Amino acid sequence: MTVESPLDRLLALMRASFVKAGADAAAAESARVLAALPAPGAPLAAPLTESAHPLLAEVPEAARAAGGAWAVELLPLAAWLPWRYSYTPRPDAPGLENRMAWAELVGPAAPIRSDVVGFGLTVITRSTFYPPHRHPAVELYAVVAGASEWTLDGVTRSCRAGDFILHPSDVPHAMRALDAPLLGIYSWTGDIVSATAYL
Ligand SMILES: [Fe+2]
Repeated sequence: MTVESPLDRLLALMRASFVKAGADAAAAESARVLAALPAPGAPLAAPLTESAHPLLAEVPEAARAAGGAWAVELLPLAAWLPWRYSYTPRPDAPGLENRMAWAELVGPAAPIRSDVVGFGLTVITRSTFYPPHRHPAVELYAVVAGASEWTLDGVTRSCRAGDFILHPSDVPHAMRALDAPLLGIYSWTGDIVSATAYL
């Protein structure tokens, strides 16, 4: 009998939530990502270590808003995920490093190594704007919890849980969490090594 680890169970939930039906570009990217992810049960590149990132305070509200499976799988593991915010501080967004973070679970430097796909969670505190930025990687987001606004190449749309947002390579984008913490699943494909640049 194979016993799934807590991380495998969280990844299974993320995979299930990342299935995009349809025939649009986001659905094609979702299928590409799911096919590229390492098989369940992949070994950890390094043991998980406990995080003290301030964004952890937002996870319970976001996980409960997301629904039962998220509360069950994410809450016990949240403090052991590699939360980080690694961009240079911005004078026009003071404290942003304490208001958003992401935890990459699969990727070149993630607990589960992949050189072809990044896959993780992003949390943004309520009433927080993640300013316009761009990166060579193709990025797909699935909103798990939290009303939010997403801007792609100057066009803004409102999104809720279950919505997908595709950011093509090098196209400027931004997002804003509204009245609740935003929890999203993200993927990167293509050039997943080159860094994000603020505009
Ligand atoms: Fe992005």
